[in-house]
Amino acid sequence: MNGTFNDVVQLVYLLAASCFVLGLHLMNTPATARRGNQVSVAGMIAAIAATLALVIHQNLITTTGWIVLAAGVLLGGGAGLYAARTVKMTAMPQLVSVFNAVGGGAAALVAILDFSSRGSGVAAQVSVPTVLDVIIGAVTFSGSIIAAGKLQGLITSAPVTIPGSRIINLLIAVIAVGVGCYVVASPSMASLGIVIAAALVFGVSMVMPIGGADMPVVISLLNAFTGTAVAMAGFVINNTGLIIAGALVGASGGILTKLMADAMNRSLANIMLGGFGTGDAVVAVAGAGGAAVQPIAADDAAIQLAYASKVIIVPGYGLAAAQAQHEVAALADLLESRGVEVSYAIHPVAGRMPGHMNVLLAEANVPYPLLKEMDEINPEFARTDVALVIGANDVTNPAARRPGTAISGMPILDVDEAKSIIVIKRSMGHGYAGIDNELYTNPKTSMLFADAKKGLAELTAAVKTLVG
Ligand code: TAP
Repeated sequence: MNGTFNDVVQLVYLLAASCFVLGLHLMNTPATARRGNQVSVAGMIAAIAATLALVIHQNLITTTGWIVLAAGVLLGGGAGLYAARTVKMTAMPQLVSVFNAVGGGAAALVAILDFSSRGSGVAAQVSVPTVLDVIIGAVTFSGSIIAAGKLQGLITSAPVTIPGSRIINLLIAVIAVGVGCYVVASPSMASLGIVIAAALVFGVSMVMPIGGADMPVVISLLNAFTGTAVAMAGFVINNTGLIIAGALVGASGGILTKLMADAMNRSLANIMLGGFGTGDAVVAVAGAGGAAVQPIAADDAAIQLAYASKVIIVPGYGLAAAQAQHEVAALADLLESRGVEVSYAIHPVAGRMPGHMNVLLAEANVPYPLLKEMDEINPEFARTDVALVIGANDVTNPAARRPGTAISGMPILDVDEAKSIIVIKRSMGHGYAGIDNELYTNPKTSMLFADAKKGLAELTAAVKTLVG
């Protein structure tokens, strides 16, 4: 009877794991991403139900335990639901970071509880994943809290370094791993306590020297850590569901981190050791190298747009900061109703988090087929009448094509190949990389200095007036 019950539970875990894999696959394109989320949620519900059935069947939880569990689910679930429903898109990275902290911390607690209940006779196949879980989980917990604090402005977003910090970090890492090895050889709670403390300190000292604007990459890395810690917790308590779910998060988080670093043309080591990107734009007063910029009024920009046959919209961080997604969709609709061919050029790291522009434009119901990825849209610029750049800066900067700049080698959108370029932004302020944008002084470029939301509303009104 017990054997059959366990087999059914294992089968449900397998079903749940299949849902996770299918869900991830569906998230490959915006058109099926929502369904991917739903399939993954269904898998998670099945896994939780199977685990509940297992603990009830094995009578593992006392009455007090059930009360604590129910209170935890209500409190934690309620807080998670509230946070996810109310968070602003621009604050999403710090929310993900808090969730990473919770995930990593919970995975570490599972291993600590299991370890404390085993006494001194812990076999290596349990103590090794326990130590790994505790180290990775504790680093993720403290590192993610610091990352969220930096992004929320509760901690300075500037890199914080102290003399000899790299040596100190190395020393703390050696203590955590060295004492961890000792725990495997001679298990004791006191030694595990030292490992936990060292890992917590390492999480803080690892993230503090990194600039706030690099945090999205760090958060993605910590997300991969969370998954790995969860998989280790699965090995500790012998739960296949946790092992598979954790491994999927670990692997996909790792791949995402690599893709983000590649799209910024930076190595992970370069990001972790601190580089550019304090997130504070320095406002320049003149164009690059003192060259003149051409300001344009909304009325004149509207003429170019209304009589164009092909327009490419290039959204960037400024569009998200201004929350101007509905205004850009309204302008695009108006132009399309006049027969103008409109598409959106999506750079992989436009904005401040992966998929930032896709999510933003989906909020305004921009049809997915109009969103074109960089490789697909770049050949189109040369036969485009107007490229309308809205709050995008670094991802359009031709300086990336030459060596010796902060963004050298970063793939960019070939906006400068369009016949005419209109840029909406508030000033000559820099983007994330903190350098002048040579696109702004291109003779084909006109600058519409305005907040993106206000500028787009003015443009739409001007096009309407123009065409009656
Ligand atoms: P940025 O280069 O950061 O430029 C954004 C521009 O938006 C600024 O120059 C700013 O100019 C303008 N802006 C800000 N608020 C605005 C508003 N209310 N209205 C209009 N414009 C506004 O943005 P990007 O081109 O999207 O490039 C993204 C950068 O972030 C890249 O360097 C990338 O490597 C980095 N990054 C991305 C990610 C991910 S995963 N997406 C992660 C980490 C780092 P004004 O102040 O003059 O208005």
